[in-house]
Amino acid sequence: MPTCRACGDRAEQFLDLGRQPLSDAFLRPEEVATEFTYDLTVTCCQGCGMVQLGSEVPRERMFHSEYPFRTASSHRMTQHFRAVADRLVAHSSTADPFVVEVGCNDGTMLRRLAETGVRHLGVDASADAVRDATAAGVQAQCAFFELETARRIAAEHGRADVVYAANTMCHIPYLDSVLAGAAALLTDDGVLVFEDPSWEDVFRLASFDQIYDEHFYLFSATSVSALALRHGFRLVDVEHLDVHGGELRYTLARSGAREPGPAPAAQVARERALGLTDPDVLAGFAERVAAKRTALLDLLRSTRAQGRSVAGYAATAKSATVLNYCGIGPDLIPCVYDTTPEKQGRLTPGTHIPVLPFPDSPDDLPDTFVLFAWNHTAEVLDKESAFRADGGRWIRYVPDVEEV
Ligand code: TYD
Repeated sequence: MPTCRACGDRAEQFLDLGRQPLSDAFLRPEEVATEFTYDLTVTCCQGCGMVQLGSEVPRERMFHSEYPFRTASSHRMTQHFRAVADRLVAHSSTADPFVVEVGCNDGTMLRRLAETGVRHLGVDASADAVRDATAAGVQAQCAFFELETARRIAAEHGRADVVYAANTMCHIPYLDSVLAGAAALLTDDGVLVFEDPSWEDVFRLASFDQIYDEHFYLFSATSVSALALRHGFRLVDVEHLDVHGGELRYTLARSGAREPGPAPAAQVARERALGLTDPDVLAGFAERVAAKRTALLDLLRSTRAQGRSVAGYAATAKSATVLNYCGIGPDLIPCVYDTTPEKQGRLTPGTHIPVLPFPDSPDDLPDTFVLFAWNHTAEVLDKESAFRADGGRWIRYVPDVEEV
């Protein structure tokens, strides 16, 4: 029986997504033969309610200098993080706050702080991402954030008013060390703020592609409250964010330092009402996921049978789970277009579909796009309005499998 990586209690498996590659490991053709794979299963802790993967991929395999994701690839996310930077400074009760970002990637958020002269430091495990951040004028260093890193930062730069992480905390199985690090680094009144895909949204939308090697945890207010209490913190605020397919932003303060607002208790009550840790409800989720696989395969096969050409829109990390779980290869989707130079010319993990830059001419676009960047739907449809106007169609699978 697996145990919970966060609290050590018993964890029950409720979903098996089969053998999977690393979601961001876009391959050179010569790397296909030695591709790494693992069993992607999901469990729920019977004690603290933490939803998590059944097995852990070593962090060095996932986060290294060639990690290809760049925050700035989405215009909307760039705007989102500029607003975050302003909020973080407002959060702080001091005149000269120090903000540390864990998983700063290309420095999209910290750039805003750098521009306004706010003391800051980014930490990221990818040397290439840190290089991009530094080139953008951001203070950043290459490291995995854990207790030792936090102690070193506190000794070199002083204590932080805010420790912030976006789409990073859920990547880190060893949360004990991260929470201990935050406790060592933060001032007495400091806050740990993090935002990650929410289990409630994944459940509601059956967006099972949010589940992959890097998303080790699918947090909820229930599980984060328990995590906070075990480490001398309290969940004092939680806020729903309409980005990356639905996220929650959690604010943790040292126990007794700040009074919790009403939002955490309300969110925990919603999660309880939905039964997000109930074994029968979880079994129902697994059935909805299996039904989506059947529906997506049927739609793709009928689209191809009608003679329509198909391509994937955006080689997202999420798409790896869908493609591999459904067994979709180049026979159904011959190529995937993506704006990221680091992914172009490579093959999608596991399914080995070529990743190409978007064609220059509209004449070279396919008849149908499969929207793998469904979390950026508004931005993409706005950008691609001419494709739609010219008769192009979209296949999507979140919230439902459909052609639009
Ligand atoms: P995203 O959904 O942000 O992330 P993840 O990889 O974590 O699932 O998708 C980012 C990828 O999508 C990145 O490779 C760039 C690509 N992309 C495009 O090619 N065009 C677009 O218009 C957008 C929004 C993303």
